[in-house]
Amino acid sequence: MKNCLTASRSLVFRGRILFTMNRNMIERQLHPLSTNTSTVDLRSDTVTTPTQEMYDAMISSPVGDDVFKEDPTVTKLQEKCAKLFGKDAALFVPSGTMGNLISVMAHCQSRLLEAIVGSQSHILLYEVGGLAHFGGVQLRSVHNKADGTFDLDEASGIIRNKDDIHQPSTALICLENTHNKCGGKVLPISFLEQVQEFAKKHDLKCHMDGARLLNAAIYMDRDPADILQYVDSVSLCFSKGLSCPVGSIIAGTHDFISRARWLRKALGGGMRQIGVLAGPAIVGLDTIYPKLYLDHQRTKQIATAIHENSCEVVEVDLDGIHTNILMVHMTKSNFDAAMFCNRLAKVTDEERQILEEDICILGLPFSNKTARLVLHHNIDQNKVDKTIKKLKYVLKEMADKNNL
Ligand SMILES: Cc1ncc(COP(=O)(O)O)c(C=O)c1O
Repeated sequence: MKNCLTASRSLVFRGRILFTMNRNMIERQLHPLSTNTSTVDLRSDTVTTPTQEMYDAMISSPVGDDVFKEDPTVTKLQEKCAKLFGKDAALFVPSGTMGNLISVMAHCQSRLLEAIVGSQSHILLYEVGGLAHFGGVQLRSVHNKADGTFDLDEASGIIRNKDDIHQPSTALICLENTHNKCGGKVLPISFLEQVQEFAKKHDLKCHMDGARLLNAAIYMDRDPADILQYVDSVSLCFSKGLSCPVGSIIAGTHDFISRARWLRKALGGGMRQIGVLAGPAIVGLDTIYPKLYLDHQRTKQIATAIHENSCEVVEVDLDGIHTNILMVHMTKSNFDAAMFCNRLAKVTDEERQILEEDICILGLPFSNKTARLVLHHNIDQNKVDKTIKKLKYVLKEMADKNNL
């Protein structure tokens, strides 16, 4: 087995390239742009750093052994979340991935079961197939529409026949809200109502991957509990828009959480004096959650600037921007998302002269033609202004190149 950073700066694992640093990233490491470069990191809301209040909470929160249920800060966080979500109980877990894994396993208790998920869902695409490996649960996908929903007639068509010995039984349906790959879309309440009815009719449980549920609540101006009344369980991440360093929470019935506690321990997620991380999560709920609307406003601001200066080389769906995720689509065959992101991360001599400063924007190529920009707590209005300034310059440059 060979893990290494090769000469070409690719992280290689068992002969497979996991991640390739582009030239600009390498150059930045070798030759930092300049000492007064403004870097705006829009790759994800997971890059957020803890606030001073969170660091203070790490130091001052009372702790105990949480596997013995003796950490008062964890207990406080769990009770607070259960109330906020309108559920019986909640459980602090290390990550969103583990939260989803535990939740699906807690719903699919016996073997030979299947869960329905969206074709673009995080559970299906980005959780390393953990449910197959550790949970023994087969995932079956229905086509995700651009708004993060799916067609319930299509879902109905893939429900298994419980009397057919050749088929696993469908036990669960999963939703994602907001929907990451669909650009931070918020699922409409009408869809949630239909899913709840569908689940009842087919005797299924319903789990919501609500990694960014609070962004959905802010967008809808509703309490999280209003949204969650339609599902049996939820997972939510503190480590994204809420700016915490680590941690997620899952919530559901007492019975669900009691099973989840066993599963968390089995998966190695039982934590001890973890009030040091539950404390910041409480701070995130109290202080960052009410400010998420700013991330949404700023996302819209950047999207509007891109739309108005697109020079027809890129496209954004302005009306489809609900929360803090912005997808930028490349419309010309000679540009792809990686090129766009590389260019945003680079500063040319000519650009330095015209903009009179070095601005480095980090985005994520999400697919060949789509780049993702995510707003979050560490991006203030000054950084938004710099982002817009840089984007205008780069879009114009791309248009000039395109017209050559
Ligand atoms: C929608 C969604 N669900 C789950 C996760 C997993 O969270 P974690 O990275 O904490 O495992 C993510 C992470 O980006 C996500 O975007």
